[in-house]
Amino acid sequence: MRTDEALRLALDLAGLGEIPADSGVLVPGKFGDKVLFAIDVGVGELLLAGRLGASGVIAHHPPGGQPRLHWHEVLWRHVDLLINYGIPVDEAQGAVTELVSEFSARDHAANFLHVPAAAKALGIPLVGIHTPLDEIGRKRLVDTAEELSPEEPVGLLVEKLEKIPEFTAAATEMEVRVGSLENRVGRVGVFHGAGTNGGYPVAACAFRHGIDTVIYIHCSDAAAKRLAREFPDKNLIVMGHIAADSLGINPFLEALEERGLEVVALDVVRP
Ligand SMILES: [Fe+2]
Ligand SMILES: [Fe+2]
Repeated sequence: MRTDEALRLALDLAGLGEIPADSGVLVPGKFGDKVLFAIDVGVGELLLAGRLGASGVIAHHPPGGQPRLHWHEVLWRHVDLLINYGIPVDEAQGAVTELVSEFSARDHAANFLHVPAAAKALGIPLVGIHTPLDEIGRKRLVDTAEELSPEEPVGLLVEKLEKIPEFTAAATEMEVRVGSLENRVGRVGVFHGAGTNGGYPVAACAFRHGIDTVIYIHCSDAAAKRLAREFPDKNLIVMGHIAADSLGINPFLEALEERGLEVVALDVVRP
C-alpha cells in the first residue's frame, strides 16, 4: 500500500470526498509489510519505526508540513456541526471565528519542517491523517448519544459512553466538567472531528441555542470553568483525549490489517 492509498482509505471510511487541510502525505512512498501508527509522531517515532522493522509511519496529530500549518482551517467544521444542531449560521460563524484566530497564530509559529525533514532524511514514507479518523470516531459517538431520550440523566449517557470498548479499556475516566450526572441530558451535541475541541466559544454558542449537553474529547480547565460559571444549568462531558482519538483510529487500523498490513500501534487504546 502506498501513502496516498492509506489516506484515501481513511477518507472512504470517514465518508469524506476531499482531503482535509490537516491531513496529507508528507513523504510519499510504499509501506511494505509493516507500518508504525502513532497519535503523536516526532523524530523518535521515526527512528523507532526503523528499529521495529516498519517501513512507513502514519501519524494522527499533524506532524508537519502543510497539514500542520493549515490545521486551524478544519476548525470551520464546527460551524457545520453547530448548524446541524439548529444553531443560526451567523452565530456559529461568530463562535468559530474566535477559535480560528487563536489556532492560526499557534500554527503559524509551528516548526513545520522538523519531522518531515527527518522522515525524508531517513527515507521513511510518512502520512498524517487527522480529521478523517476523528470523523469516524465522531460518528461512533453520535450513534451512542442518539440512544438516549432527553429526559434521561447525564449519568446514563456517561454509562453508555463508558461501555464503548476503547473507553472501558482506557486509563482515563470520563469527566462531567459542567453540570452533574443527575441533570437531565436534554439535547446532546457531539463536537468532535473538527480540528480540536470547540473550547469556550463553541460550547457557549451551543448552550445559548438549545443544546443542554456538550460532548468534547478534551477541554482546557479555563474554558470548562468559564462555561460552568456562565451556564450552571448545562452539562459538559469531557471523554478523555487518547481514548476518544482511538475510537476513530481503530476502525482504520483494522481496515489496514484486513488488507494484509502489519500495524504497530504505538499510543492507541486497542481493546
Ligand atoms: Fe483526533
Ligand atoms: Fe487528538
